Amino acid sequence: MGKVKNLISIQDLDRKGIDAILDTASKMETVAIDRSDLLRGKIMAVLFFEASTRTRLSFESAMLRLGGGILGFSEVTTTSAGVKGETLADTIRTVERYADVIVIRHPLDGSARVAAEFASIPVINAGSGAEEHPTQALLDFYSIRKLKGTIDGLTISLCGDLKYGRTVHSLGMALSQYDVSIILAAPPSLKMKPAIIEEMKKAGIQVNQVDNIEDAITEDVDVVYQTRIQKERFYREDEYFKVAGKFKISNKDAERLKDDAIILHPLPRVDEISPDVDSMPQAKYFDQVYNGVVTRMAILKMVLG
Ligand code: NCD
Repeated sequence: MGKVKNLISIQDLDRKGIDAILDTASKMETVAIDRSDLLRGKIMAVLFFEASTRTRLSFESAMLRLGGGILGFSEVTTTSAGVKGETLADTIRTVERYADVIVIRHPLDGSARVAAEFASIPVINAGSGAEEHPTQALLDFYSIRKLKGTIDGLTISLCGDLKYGRTVHSLGMALSQYDVSIILAAPPSLKMKPAIIEEMKKAGIQVNQVDNIEDAITEDVDVVYQTRIQKERFYREDEYFKVAGKFKISNKDAERLKDDAIILHPLPRVDEISPDVDSMPQAKYFDQVYNGVVTRMAILKMVLG
């Protein structure tokens, strides 16, 4: 049997691999509208052990647009793993007998890798604990390239919860492969992991760390990537309340940006972008949502095609 193609970490892909997915995603724009039979007969299992709106539904929408079928769960309390104590390994060894690809979201770091070890079909990581969210990073790259025409040469601010935010971990690691300048803006207790910063610096990227939103939203910035403070990852609620509501983008902040700068957010938003920013020309986070469909069509084609 040939080697199974998984997508567990964004580091599974080099720049050529990332660019190839972005190119396919771009071709999927018309396929998404016209629909296709490319994956007819293929079955995608979605195993969501953690809450999701966009990631699960966009994967399902992507598979349906490519003619495939879907099964799975998004409410863990209806499963044997959630209620009867079945292990992840046994769940995977069961599901692989029902489907051709597994898309998994799980609250534990390392969960997607464990799933891939036990599966003989491709596994796609749709969010593993606070660790990684590679398909989100790919749709973020796709959004930047679609809106700005390029990734190289840009100044990008990653803001908010850089410690527990899995999207910024995957995005940050992959940005090391591009010629960008990065501003990391987080409260002191939620800074980006040193290993990821080291990797960026090793790649020759200019990294500037700041602890307030004002220094991350300036006229020199091309992309502002705001994130939610990940309340569910804090061990103590009082630690969350110390930082909650401190890192907000207001209409006044956004006014400092160039006209063609863009504001992205993986969503869901709580209060970290004021609703009056939504109507500003730089606000692109709802356009970013749709890009999740075409990017995930490209990812499914890569692992199943
Ligand atoms: C993110 C996640 O689940 O990590 N959401 C998403 O997939 N678009 C971000 C978040 O929950 O804050």
